[in-house]
Amino acid sequence: MLVTGIEILQDAHKNNYAVGAFNVNNMEIVQAIIEAAEETNSPVILQASQGGLKYAGVEYIAALGKLAAEKAKVPVALHLDHGTDFDQVMLCIRHGFSSVMIDGSRFELEGNIAITKKVIEVAHAVGVSVEAELGKIGGTEDDIVVDERDATFTDPKEAKKFVEETNVDYLAIAVGTAHGVYKGEPKLDFERIKTIKEMVNIPLVLHGSSGVPKEAIEKAVSLGINKINIDTDLRMAFSNAIKDFLKENPDNIDPRKILGPAKEAMKEIIKEKMELFGSAGRA
Ligand code: G3H
Ligand code: ZN
Repeated sequence: MLVTGIEILQDAHKNNYAVGAFNVNNMEIVQAIIEAAEETNSPVILQASQGGLKYAGVEYIAALGKLAAEKAKVPVALHLDHGTDFDQVMLCIRHGFSSVMIDGSRFELEGNIAITKKVIEVAHAVGVSVEAELGKIGGTEDDIVVDERDATFTDPKEAKKFVEETNVDYLAIAVGTAHGVYKGEPKLDFERIKTIKEMVNIPLVLHGSSGVPKEAIEKAVSLGINKINIDTDLRMAFSNAIKDFLKENPDNIDPRKILGPAKEAMKEIIKEKMELFGSAGRA
């Protein structure tokens, strides 16, 4: 069933586990995520980035996500990832997204608060949950590029002010992760996660979570991370499976044969993540 993001994340916040939010661009990815969620009995968040919406079109993504949620035996939220533009956020709400992110991290604190409040006023009026971002997460996520030197960690005092003034449902924080493939091992600021959680007491979101070591994920969850965004790990599983298949079967031209193993490879990774995040068995 399709539920709001906060319905899923409130339970995770109360019971100290995290739910995976996986980026979707096509049918095979959606199916891999839903099958993994059903097999592990896990709530799940399907999310579409700006790039995903540009690629597939908001109508296709919304139709795919809503159909998948309707048919699923587990709770599913359909979320806009890194929405940067008020009009686009409204378009997603109109198409039935049950959760949206307004990423105002490129603005100073007051500007970020202002755009977040504007989105929340409309979204909450129609029962849609809202994620915002405070601090700047480094790396590349489709069109959003933040140079390492411009990445800034979330200030706990600002986070408290931000949450009080906006009434945001869940907050993405910058604590040492980055979007895309890591060059070295990411170093998370666990003390910062703990302090922010104590000061805001709402579900917290970790972006750039592909490639973060298992122990770091476990610790981050134990300190209050409740939504974990994964894109790059799925892209790698998908493309590696296709490369392997075509290497072994260079003459095969059947898209179903080519994409089938890619879907299975993504599903295995997603199931592992669901166990690791603690959402397995929570549906
Ligand atoms: O918003 C999406 C994520 O933060 C994904 O990051 O590609 O590093 O897993 P990732
Ligand atoms: Zn992100």
